[in-house]
Amino acid sequence: MKVTLSAIKADIGSIGGHIKPSKKILETVENFVREEGLKKGLIIDFYIGYTGDDIALLFTHENGVGNEEVHELSWNAFMAGAEVAKQQGLYGAGQDLLKDAFSGNVRGLGPGIAEMEIEERPNEAFVVFAADKTEPGAFNLPLYLAFADPMYNSGLILSPHMAKGFTFTVMDVEHVECDRVIELHVPEDLYNLAALLRDNGRYVVAKITSRKSGEQAVAASTTRLRNIAGKYVGKDDPIMIVRVQKEFPATGEMLSAFSIGHYVAGFMRGSHNGPLMPVKLNTPTSFFDGPPIVSGAAFCVKEGKLTEPADVFDHPFWEWMRNIISWKAFEIRRQGFSGPAMLPYHDLEYGGIVERLKEVKDRFYDRK
Ligand code: F6R
Ligand code: MG
Ligand code: MG
Repeated sequence: MKVTLSAIKADIGSIGGHIKPSKKILETVENFVREEGLKKGLIIDFYIGYTGDDIALLFTHENGVGNEEVHELSWNAFMAGAEVAKQQGLYGAGQDLLKDAFSGNVRGLGPGIAEMEIEERPNEAFVVFAADKTEPGAFNLPLYLAFADPMYNSGLILSPHMAKGFTFTVMDVEHVECDRVIELHVPEDLYNLAALLRDNGRYVVAKITSRKSGEQAVAASTTRLRNIAGKYVGKDDPIMIVRVQKEFPATGEMLSAFSIGHYVAGFMRGSHNGPLMPVKLNTPTSFFDGPPIVSGAAFCVKEGKLTEPADVFDHPFWEWMRNIISWKAFEIRRQGFSGPAMLPYHDLEYGGIVERLKEVKDRFYDRK
């Protein structure tokens, strides 16, 4: 059976700053999806959760990728939630809903979206990763390591199912006129891939397919709020769907790539680097509006019906990892604004520093 998985994520308001959504908006969004999507037969099943201040929705349905009604369902559900956020006086109510009206597709309206249509395997397993206080390029390194590097995924050399490698579709997110993408085939394009994925702010993995079966393994969001709004309006906290097992990495091989807690952009005011910490489902943010966090909900799906989620980072191993990554966060914060702790000038999202530098520019003089 062909099933479409649609994962859509937005910050529509949170309690006490950019911490977590309120119970009431989560209930509102959930009830909306149940009444307007599930009961009306538009979707087969759904899941709702949060990561920091972002709400993530997962829908299963048979309408294909980019379906207008499904997108509208997510938009209207977020709008209903944003209305409640306003009534509750939540911080940043409706923040990621950048347009006034729905226009056929949520791409370009603010929410992040990852979608794929799959031929459901007899035991179809996949993970939805959602990150907060970071950007889509934060997934570049974990995807590279899990799908192209036998040092992190030894299955690439052990399993005949993955022996042919994968095709990465990489998007240039600085190109605003249209989607500009390139297809790179690993292993032979490995160095080209590394050369692009080095730059998380510009080149982002949008899709990965198996070269053996041609089946899609990964769909990732590439939304840049700055490109839509023309200025900083919050970070583009990403979401992705990763199919696992057999011709794809084992769940644990995919997870192993997150054990680095690699430094990513997006910590405090979208202006600092911090380590990406794998956290349990429904974890708020804290220290220095962060650190950047990623959650993972693993599912099996049968004829579109989802199991309950398995929380992939809820395990003693990740408690230990979180301590190490907390140390990495503390270490980089100790140097405040200096050097790599803060994003380089051209990436700085907040206008304040730009104004300040303009002001001092005129006070420079050429010493004779
Ligand atoms: C992170 C984030 C925060 C804010 C910070 C200042 O997503 O949005 O780090 O940038 O709390 O927020 P404002 O400018 O709303 O006071
Ligand atoms: Mg936010
Ligand atoms: Mg967020």
